[in-house]
Amino acid sequence: MDQLAWNLGNPDGDLQTNLNAYVANSPRTTPFFHPMKGPMVTQTLRGIANSGPQHWRGDRMGQNRETVNGELESLEAAAFKEFNPAFVELLGREERLSQADMQAFTDFAMALTPPPNPIRQLDNSLTADQQLGRDIYFQVGDITGLGSCNHCHTLNPGEKQFGTGGLMTFEGAGVAENFKVPHFRNAYAKVGMFGTSGSRNRDGFTGDQIKGFGYLHDGSVASLLDFFAADAFNFPEPKDVNVSHVVDFVMAADSNMAPVVGQQVTLSASDNAALERLNLLETRASVTAPLPECDLIARGVVNGLRFSAMMTEGGEYLSSHGARYSTNQLRTAVAEGGVLTFTCTPPGSGQRLALDR
Ligand code: HEC
Repeated sequence: MDQLAWNLGNPDGDLQTNLNAYVANSPRTTPFFHPMKGPMVTQTLRGIANSGPQHWRGDRMGQNRETVNGELESLEAAAFKEFNPAFVELLGREERLSQADMQAFTDFAMALTPPPNPIRQLDNSLTADQQLGRDIYFQVGDITGLGSCNHCHTLNPGEKQFGTGGLMTFEGAGVAENFKVPHFRNAYAKVGMFGTSGSRNRDGFTGDQIKGFGYLHDGSVASLLDFFAADAFNFPEPKDVNVSHVVDFVMAADSNMAPVVGQQVTLSASDNAALERLNLLETRASVTAPLPECDLIARGVVNGLRFSAMMTEGGEYLSSHGARYSTNQLRTAVAEGGVLTFTCTPPGSGQRLALDR
């Protein structure tokens, strides 16, 4: 993200028929996408896989899916390929990327994954306030005229849905166009604008600013407190308290990578704090549902020799030499003078990082 809005409307462009699917109950009031779309904030490329059509309006629809290596490509891959003209029209290149280059670029883009949410607790649990926000998110059915938060912002990590099911929706009075429901894995990264003029300015504060753009397609809403103060939302009473719980929950949103990914601990002799942290890493590495959280690898020196291992499903460590150790054996080996660094790596990467070497 560059945290800027760009006015990339094209006065010479054509109307494009909107073929996207909508959430249930939503009227369809944008039958065509107009080429003069107005300023839109740059969206992150992280996590576009499994997230539906691209651009705020979903106007990169991905309707023309090709067969690649014998398999029908995803809607998201097809949608991404619709950006090829931007190499010429926006970047000034003489010609579009070749098909092979665009395929390689698409494969790269589909693999870009959001990092762990730094606000969420390392054991992936919610604080009491975040949990209260989550309850409202799922349970208050009439929070908007169309349904609950989750009615539009599908949150189902097991299905890799992190706030969007890839569908469009009508937005209510005051917003001319329909938008694709956005995910909010990076809502915490958009904090920095603290005041606006007009009715949405909740606190009247327009002082120190870090950013000039905030939330929504045009970045016009400074904070989520301002956003949820809009008339479209019916938060249960006490409203201010409930809004702040939902903000807490959105800031700690679930993401593709569990909070523990990237966390490390180095054990040397007996250090209780380090052992407690190792317990945490081992517990998270044994989670399999709704998604595995991490591969736990151990690297260092044991009995004077280089050591590299990965925790298996049963909780044992398999070393690069094919030997198996319990966690207690490793802890004892460290207490006797070894040193091991344990790292929670992204699921699926442990084999390569610890064993194939
Ligand atoms: C009717 C479908 C719908 C419902 C219900 C809904 N939203 Fe949204 N939400 C959207 C759409 C569409 C946008 C994008 C609007 C835009 O950019 O103009 C959006 C934007 C957002 C954003 C800003 C995303 C960003 O990156 O700027 C957040 C956060 C959000 N919604 C959270 C919620 C929460 C929490 C609830 C429940 C209180 C909720 N929404 C209810 C459809 C919905």
